[in-house]
Amino acid sequence: MSRTLLIGTGRAAFHLGHAIQRGDGGLVGIAGRNIEHARELASELDTTAFHLNEALPDADLILIAVSDDAISDVAMNIPAGDAVVAHTSGAGDLDKLLPHPDRGVLWPIIALSPGEPMDLSRVPLVIDGNSEHARTTLMELASSLSVRVNALDHQQRELVHAAAAISLNLPTYLLARSQQLLQDKGIDPDILVPAFVAMARRVEAIGALEALTGPARRGDLGTIHHHLDRLTDDPELRAAYARLSSMILRAHGHSDHGHTDL
Ligand SMILES: NC(=O)c1ccc[n+]([C@@H]2O[C@H](COP(=O)([O-])OP(=O)(O)OC[C@H]3O[C@@H](n4cnc5c(N)ncnc54)[C@H](OP(=O)(O)O)[C@@H]3O)[C@@H](O)[C@H]2O)c1
Repeated sequence: MSRTLLIGTGRAAFHLGHAIQRGDGGLVGIAGRNIEHARELASELDTTAFHLNEALPDADLILIAVSDDAISDVAMNIPAGDAVVAHTSGAGDLDKLLPHPDRGVLWPIIALSPGEPMDLSRVPLVIDGNSEHARTTLMELASSLSVRVNALDHQQRELVHAAAAISLNLPTYLLARSQQLLQDKGIDPDILVPAFVAMARRVEAIGALEALTGPARRGDLGTIHHHLDRLTDDPELRAAYARLSSMILRAHGHSDHGHTDL
C-alpha cells in the first residue's frame, strides 16, 4: 500500500479519493487552498485535511487533482522530497510538475461529475511517468483502483484526449442543443434521453459503426433536407448537422453531391 496525498477538493479529488479509500485505503490526507473544502472532503474520506500553505505529510505519491491551469503553480510550491508527484489531467505533460524529479500522470478516462462516488473499478486509467520509480508507483495505485490500466506517453495521451473530447463532449453538447430546440417549442426535452442512453449501450455491445442508424447512414437525402429545413432558425446547428451528415453519407458509400454543406 502506497501512502497517497491528494491535492484538490473538486470533482476529480472527490471520486479518486473515494476510490483510493475503497481500494488500497492509503490516503494520508487531502490538501487544498481552501481549508474548509479540504476539511469537508477529508472528513468524508476519514483522513486529515491540510492547507496547501502548511507543512504537508510524508507520502509516496502526491496526486495533484486541481484545475489544469493551476497544476504548475501547485507543483512548484510543494517542497521537493522523495515522493512521486503526479497530476490527473489527460492533456497535461509531465513538465508541468517540474522541478520534481519523479513525475507522472494518472488520468481516469471518464466524466467525473457531482453525485455519488463512482465505481472506477472498470474505468480505463491512463498512467505515465518520467522514471521507472514514477511509473511503478502509479501502476501500483492505478491497479488497486481499476482492472483497466493503460501506460501511454504524452503524444498518445493527447490523441486519446482529443478523441475523448470528440466522442464524449460533442455528442453531449449536440444533445443539449437538440433538447433546447424541443423546449423552445414546448416539447418535453427528456424524450430524447432514453434513446441517447440506449445508444451508448448498443455501442458497448456491438461497436460504434454498427450501432449507428439514421438517414445519413441509409442515404436518405430527402429526409436530411427536411431536417435542414427545420433548422433554418439555428444556422450554427444546421451547419453542424449538414457537415456531420455529409461525413456519414460518404463513409457509407452514398454521395453528398460534392457539397459538405449538402
Ligand atoms: N472532472 C472530470 O471529469 C475529470 C476527469 C479526468 C481528469 N480530470 C482532471 O482533474 C483535475 C481537476 O479537475 P476537476 O474536474 O476536479 O476540477 P474542479 O471540480 O473544478 O476542481 C478544481 C480544484 O482545483 C482547485 N484549484 C483551482 N485553482 C487552484 C489554485 N490556483 N491553487 C490551488 N488549487 C486550485 C480548486 O480549489 P477550490 O475548491 O478552492 O476552488 C478545486 O479543488 C484537472 O486536471 C482535470 O483535467 C477531471
